[in-house]
Amino acid sequence: MFSQRIMQLKPYTPGEQPQDKKYIKLNTNENPYPPSPMVEKAIREFDVATLKLYPDPESNKLKQAIADFYGKKRENIFVGNGSDEILALAFYAFFDRNNGTLLYPYPSYSFYPVYCNFFNIEKKEIQTRPDFSIDIEDFLAEPNPSGLIFPNPNAPTAMGLAKPKIIELLERFPSDRVVIIDEAYVDFCDLGADDLIDRFENLLIIKTFSKSRSLAGMRLGYAIGSKKLISALNTAKNSFNSYPVDRIAEVAGVAAMNDKAYFQETNQKICKTRDYLANWLNSNGWEALESSANFIFARKPGISGQEIYQRLKDEGILVRYFNLDRINDFVRITIGTDAEIQALIDRLTDFK
Ligand SMILES: Cc1ncc(COP(=O)(O)O)c(C=O)c1O
Repeated sequence: MFSQRIMQLKPYTPGEQPQDKKYIKLNTNENPYPPSPMVEKAIREFDVATLKLYPDPESNKLKQAIADFYGKKRENIFVGNGSDEILALAFYAFFDRNNGTLLYPYPSYSFYPVYCNFFNIEKKEIQTRPDFSIDIEDFLAEPNPSGLIFPNPNAPTAMGLAKPKIIELLERFPSDRVVIIDEAYVDFCDLGADDLIDRFENLLIIKTFSKSRSLAGMRLGYAIGSKKLISALNTAKNSFNSYPVDRIAEVAGVAAMNDKAYFQETNQKICKTRDYLANWLNSNGWEALESSANFIFARKPGISGQEIYQRLKDEGILVRYFNLDRINDFVRITIGTDAEIQALIDRLTDFK
């Protein structure tokens, strides 16, 4: 009844989206603030009658808004149903089983091995250093990469790789192998590498509207890269689903992209709350890794990640913990509003 392939899949487990009661939800790196008021306006003014028609398969208006924001051409932009979908299409388009090994760091986004499994791609996890930093030499030492993917800032550590290191990595990595930087969280720091796509034809940047633009529920992602890479993504997309972005998502995406002031204001607020929480944790017996994202990865010596998670859940606060090698004494805490983070701090104050 089932294909051989489906029997071998190990699916990704997303963070909880509980329906039982109301939690302070700091577990899936969503934005605590609503989308831009311009998004609400665009959706309210949306002509529902047009839903009888398919959307523009090229999503040209959305691509144009993204291209304008980054000072690129539309041919350098690809859009999809969340950045997860774009990651899947990119894995399919750029990495082959018989063409070396796909490299990515550990720990990192746990969807990467799932896609490798799905598409039968040979992979190798490259351990981060004991302090969880990425050392580019560890990637460059690998003899036969089919490509490389890493999030910057990394997830779940939240640690960023400095721009000069990214440039050096791209200079020394084989130029006929694709390097993907998953910049889901880059708007909470200044490590964006989109300015490098003209210099490095093999560089693909993947971004999302889910975090810094408060549109996780809309499912919108985009990629920025050379015309050559974008055109390969289009071939993959048009062989799978011609209309990944629906009409409502497209107008919402355009409005979110155009409201620069709101984007900057909410991101700044989140960074300020993040730095406040990091400071509190580090001054109160916790160890928080340096965060460049909208979440903090932290541990408290003497308590396991699972215990912290469970105790907080019992008190109505959800954080994420991973029962995985090297990181099972950590929890990942998404930055909420000031009030939510204060409520968290109040609970953590009597954690022993
Ligand atoms: C590193 C990373 N990449 C990509 C995604 C996927 O984002 P989305 O599919 O919502 O655009 C996430 C979501 O948590 C993530 O953490």
